[in-house]
Amino acid sequence: MRAPTVDERRALARAIALAERARPSTAPNPAVGCVLLRDGDVVGEGVTHPPGGHHAEAAALAAAGPRAAGATACVTLEPCAHHGRTPPCAPALADAGVRRVVYAHADPHALASGGADELRARGVEVVGPDTVGGVFHHAVAAQLEGFLTVATHERPHVTLKAAQTADGHLRPPDDRRWITGPAARAAVHRWRAEVDAVLVGSGTVLADDPRLDVRLVSSRVQPRAVVLDRRLRTPPDAQVVARGALVLTAADAPTGAEQALRTAGADVRRLAADGSGWLAAAMATLAADGVRNLLAEPGATLARAMLDAAVVDRLVLHVADLGTGPARRALTPPSGPGWATERVGGAGPDLILQLRPCAAQEGR
Ligand SMILES: NC(=O)c1ccc[n+]([C@@H]2O[C@H](COP(=O)([O-])OP(=O)(O)OC[C@H]3O[C@@H](n4cnc5c(N)ncnc54)[C@H](OP(=O)(O)O)[C@@H]3O)[C@@H](O)[C@H]2O)c1
Repeated sequence: MRAPTVDERRALARAIALAERARPSTAPNPAVGCVLLRDGDVVGEGVTHPPGGHHAEAAALAAAGPRAAGATACVTLEPCAHHGRTPPCAPALADAGVRRVVYAHADPHALASGGADELRARGVEVVGPDTVGGVFHHAVAAQLEGFLTVATHERPHVTLKAAQTADGHLRPPDDRRWITGPAARAAVHRWRAEVDAVLVGSGTVLADDPRLDVRLVSSRVQPRAVVLDRRLRTPPDAQVVARGALVLTAADAPTGAEQALRTAGADVRRLAADGSGWLAAAMATLAADGVRNLLAEPGATLARAMLDAAVVDRLVLHVADLGTGPARRALTPPSGPGWATERVGGAGPDLILQLRPCAAQEGR
């Protein structure tokens, strides 16, 4: 099998860039990019369309028309072999006369995988992640982290964001509404614009009545609002309810409260599990509902429960220049055992720390 040529590597990089632009409008489908090359020239490009529309390969084939015959397809993710809302891509590539397929990441999804084998069986030369190399593989793994987490853990990829004072409090010290400044709050809205849903616990709804939408930056789509509320204390006039929030509750939650929330516009679901299984059931429900990337912005109670249950893939701490002293001096690094600091940055006077679980915590 020939290693990817310089042109094919360039096309793969282009496919990754195309896919990046398509996020997050493709959810629950992964944002995939495809570039068709013939004799070194690009004859078609495609990216995943919103659900029900073309997959990236089909879009590229449509753009190339008859020029796809004899071409090489450079695709970020292994072409699918599964007939879902749209026909499978692997046979479509073979039918169009594509001779070679270069892809950066395998499809771990039980239903859709097998495309590479099918292409080989049809006589197409296939170059997979082992030959393509680590940089492209890692780039696609980062780009598709939500899709890959659902496929392997049956829950969304979870980013937990918390704002804290330099001395470790998650509540503002006086009657301030916010802990952090406008630049850090805009950063939160940029995260929100990247995810399928934003989640809080009922305590935050009761205390802050948040909207959990994207307002401070522009966004093509709005994330769904999700409230974890086992006792159904969410007020029917809460702003998230007016946005049609998904409220996940316990099997024995009061029926009157459920009715009032439904009438006000919420989607209330009772989960049969209890104890620590309830949070796992909530995460599985979100994944089944098409949530791939989830931003959790709860208060300390639910944040602690999520960390204890090891359902957090990224922790974003906004540390305010409030409390006992300037954040940069007073902060005790939270990256104790189990957490590695991925990025340190600033937003106005506030410090932003991005952490991820170390290997020992991964594979949960
Ligand atoms: N600094 C920050 O980043 C930040 C962010 C958000 C809020 N806050 C502040 O935090 C305060 C509210 O704190 P909070 O702790 O009450 O908010 P929270 O963590 O958002 O909500 C707590 C509630 O979540 C529910 N919940 C659902 N599933 C749970 C589970 N598996 N484990 C634990 N709880 C679960 C519980 O009610 P049930 O038992 O009825 O389910 C619990 O009372 C407010 O002052 C708010 O301003 C700060």
